[in-house]
Amino acid sequence: MNRILITSALPYINGIKHLGNLAGSMLPADVYARFQRLSGKDVLYICATDEHGTPAELAAAAKEQSVRQYCDDQFEVQRDACAGFDLSFDYFGRSSNAPNAALTQHFAEVLEDNGLIEERVSEQVYSIDDGRFLPDRYVEGICPHCDYNKARGDQCDDCGRILDPVDLIEPRSAISGSTKLEVRETRHLFLIQSKMQDTVRDWVEAAIDWPPLARSIALKWLDEGLQDRAITRDLSWGIPVLRHGKPRPGFENKVFYVWFDAPIEYIGATQERAEATDAEWQSWWRTDQGADDVTYVQFMGKDNVAFHTVSFPITILGSQEPWKTVDKLKAFNWVTWYGGKFSTSQKRGIFMDQALELAPSDVWRWHLMANAPESSDAAFTLGHFQSVVNKDLADVLGNFVNRITRFSASKLGGRVPDGGVPGALEEKLAAQLKTRLGALTGYYEAMEFRKAMAETRAIWAAGNEYLAEAAPWTAIKTDADTAALSVRTALNLVVISAIIAQPIIPAAAGKILDAMGVPQENRKWPNAEDAGLLNALPIGLEFSQPDVLFSKITDEEIEEWGERFGAED
Ligand code: MF3
Ligand code: ZN
Repeated sequence: MNRILITSALPYINGIKHLGNLAGSMLPADVYARFQRLSGKDVLYICATDEHGTPAELAAAAKEQSVRQYCDDQFEVQRDACAGFDLSFDYFGRSSNAPNAALTQHFAEVLEDNGLIEERVSEQVYSIDDGRFLPDRYVEGICPHCDYNKARGDQCDDCGRILDPVDLIEPRSAISGSTKLEVRETRHLFLIQSKMQDTVRDWVEAAIDWPPLARSIALKWLDEGLQDRAITRDLSWGIPVLRHGKPRPGFENKVFYVWFDAPIEYIGATQERAEATDAEWQSWWRTDQGADDVTYVQFMGKDNVAFHTVSFPITILGSQEPWKTVDKLKAFNWVTWYGGKFSTSQKRGIFMDQALELAPSDVWRWHLMANAPESSDAAFTLGHFQSVVNKDLADVLGNFVNRITRFSASKLGGRVPDGGVPGALEEKLAAQLKTRLGALTGYYEAMEFRKAMAETRAIWAAGNEYLAEAAPWTAIKTDADTAALSVRTALNLVVISAIIAQPIIPAAAGKILDAMGVPQENRKWPNAEDAGLLNALPIGLEFSQPDVLFSKITDEEIEEWGERFGAED
């Protein structure tokens, strides 16, 4: 099992993502991908923009752009924001690209052949002035539960309740504002999910490798019973509905529902890559083409779990073709903004592009991973952010690295010193390192990120504790050999500290390893049994001081950011 396929939930094309979105899928997937690559695995980390559906159409209309143009622009914006956070996708695709369309049409065709799709007539709101059907979000009105006057046909943003467009009081078209609406009949393709109930339940119950959050959400949905679901919409932006390669009669003005095609883009994106021959992309996705030995890991927020444990598996399993299904599914709760929702319109919270204007990517990455919303929602507050990053990164890691490299540069000529024989202190440190590295590796394998971060921090802290006890600055006055040994041990621990930091804070870790003259091939994930505490660096190697690694976040900054982004008391 040396190949690992990783996907993170595909961000919607409309609107730049906030820190909570980042923390709940793309960032942990990236940290995990980096860990696995360092451990020598052949990793393929795939993501893409999720471009279809009404939100994209509405956002484009608001900007007076064509949907295609809007998506082209926003794709660049999202891709750049992800690059700014050092997300190491092997490929970042687009669900509106051709491979996804062909795959989506293919799946619909085989599902229909297998008796899992049928045409049904349903009732939908039609706008006479706009001359078209209005899908959920195109209808606005007063929420019947809380009187909020801008509730959408699918959901009320104020009270959060799920709605049906026909529930709204005084409904109006979100396109024209017209209230000349009526309910008309329309035909749609329905996925007969009820027929797949047992198959999906057996599959979920066999999935022993799923962390508990994903599993419990999946079982809850299955307990409620699966409803048949329309997988087409009356829209023009999306994947056309074909039958035997030709427009399907009666469906000329319809497209597939965004949630039907979006997860298929995981496969589509794998196929989009320039280097992807059929044999190559299929070796990741087709169990008859070599994907048998692939471990497939998905990352997502909890609202996405039902789609990934029920709907998408129905597409895959219902096809009765040998596609790869997910092996491990890691789900996250929410990162909240002071306990509430992030909101662009209400200026609450920090979004990905803004974050990088305030502090470097590493600092956010550390904070979000150290406080990953694994067992419950986690509130982001600026005060907590300041104290965590100042303490862990500046005081613990930064201080350790600076103290020992500065001391050895000034007293020992900036080379790894020879001399001294390891004693009790070094043995104690080595034993601690062995235990902690073993635990750290285990937490990464189990995708327990908070625990992995705590272990990482503890290894950094062990460096400071060792230095405090060994005190080479005192020893050097009387016993040069002992001082040399302590310095050498600490410098080796600097290297190990940076190596294990690479998945989380790749920029700072790279800076340290560059300064310490560690070649790429020696930056691999350490083995707990032999981490190289005494020999990661060759004796005599010349090293330089890394530039300032982390500058502290000041109270003034926190104050200013609080006003700008809507901090609460
Ligand atoms: N765009 C969705 C969201 O942000 C996630 C889609 S995941 C996919 O909630 F797999 F369906 F693409
Ligand atoms: Zn409401």
